[in-house]
Amino acid sequence: MKKSVNVAVLVSGGGTNLQAIIDFSAEGRLESGKIVKVISSKAGVYALERAFDAEIPTAVVERKGKSQEEFEKGILLELEECNAEVIVLAGFMSILSKNFTDKYKDRIINVHPALIPSFCGEGYYGLRVHQAALDYGVKVTGATVHYVNEVADGGKIIMQRAVKVKENDTPESLQKRVMQEAEWKILPASLELVCKKLLKEN
Ligand code: GAR
Repeated sequence: MKKSVNVAVLVSGGGTNLQAIIDFSAEGRLESGKIVKVISSKAGVYALERAFDAEIPTAVVERKGKSQEEFEKGILLELEECNAEVIVLAGFMSILSKNFTDKYKDRIINVHPALIPSFCGEGYYGLRVHQAALDYGVKVTGATVHYVNEVADGGKIIMQRAVKVKENDTPESLQKRVMQEAEWKILPASLELVCKKLLKEN
């Protein structure tokens, strides 16, 4: 029987969520998955250095200057090359088409820095999400890990964790707390869950 599934992580920036997965794996907790490649939509981002330090192969498929089709074709080639079976969007800032998500149905997961269905969908990414939560005045926010389909942040929810908003929070302070208390915990745990489920099914 197969022991682990091949995991590719897609990134666009600092890669703290990627780091959380790397650490989880180094601690022996990613029992059902193996990170086989990190693919970035931008060159020179710190996430690539994190992958390099962890001796994980990397690839860059620039989003800039390409059509959606060309961009996705480039990513698909990289995924096929490493036989990726599960894909994690960890701070990946591009939206994927139905054509792409259908190819990996129930095999792509994303972390979003809010409690879906609040503050999500097109245009809600990074600090904008926390700014929107503060503008609205919610007292609780959090993070969500969900399957990815053609609807931005619209796939089935896998895990969520709530985080309290403090009186004097800024988008930056809130982002940091949501990452520390929610994202870095539920993303690796969800990944293990999804990989384990796939192993059982196959
Ligand atoms: C994270 O907060 C992630 O949830 C968010 O961007 C940040 C990336 O940080 N993703 C989105 O907003 C996607 N809609 P990281 O590069 O340090 O993991």
